[in-house]
Amino acid sequence: MKSSDPLRERVCEGLEGEVVEVGFGSGLNVPFYPPKVTRVAAVEPADVGWKLAARRLGATTTPVERSGLDGQSLPFEDDSFDAALSTWTMCTIPDLGAALAELRRVLKPGGKLHFVEHGLAPDEKVRRLQHRLEPIQKRVFGGCHLTRPIVDRLSAAGFTITEVDVFYEDNAPKFLTAQSLGVAVSP
Ligand SMILES: C[S@@+](CC[C@H](N)C(=O)[O-])C[C@H]1O[C@@H](n2cnc3c(N)ncnc32)[C@H](O)[C@@H]1O
Repeated sequence: MKSSDPLRERVCEGLEGEVVEVGFGSGLNVPFYPPKVTRVAAVEPADVGWKLAARRLGATTTPVERSGLDGQSLPFEDDSFDAALSTWTMCTIPDLGAALAELRRVLKPGGKLHFVEHGLAPDEKVRRLQHRLEPIQKRVFGGCHLTRPIVDRLSAAGFTITEVDVFYEDNAPKFLTAQSLGVAVSP
């Protein structure tokens, strides 16, 4: 079991119908898709992630298809998904505003975006450290930002946050583990 598994289980709870997952990575959420999920369109630029997902994809009954390469430009019709999933991806997508606008476009009205993301910490002292370390973090971890205010960015993109839990995990320094886990609804 991986330390992120309990958060993956929590964030996937309640997903149903046709789902788009942005930043699918190596499919670590696949074991947690609830049975009511009928299909997943996986959006992931890295071929290596898709290859590493093979075993998990072989073990699930949920149909999962690699359907896109870039969350900033989704190859789907408007209003085509019941729900969306993003786990630790909003830190890395270069133009997060564009990606959130795309998610809103492809979600049906009332569609739910389930998210767990690290970002700007609730405490000023931790925030100062995050701002100092962000340039290094971005260089070492493929463009990963430490200071994105996830909930504010979702609201600014027009989502309504219906559930959110903001907390630190205790398995790593606070500047890395200021998590926001919740559900944002597309109007
Ligand atoms: C920290 S990893 C998280 C992967 C996965 N969601 C997880 O929870 O294990 C960030 C992921 O975002 C993906 N990514 C980076 N830029 C992206 C983009 N423009 N559109 C979609 N995914 C992107 C990366 O390839 C990577 O798989």
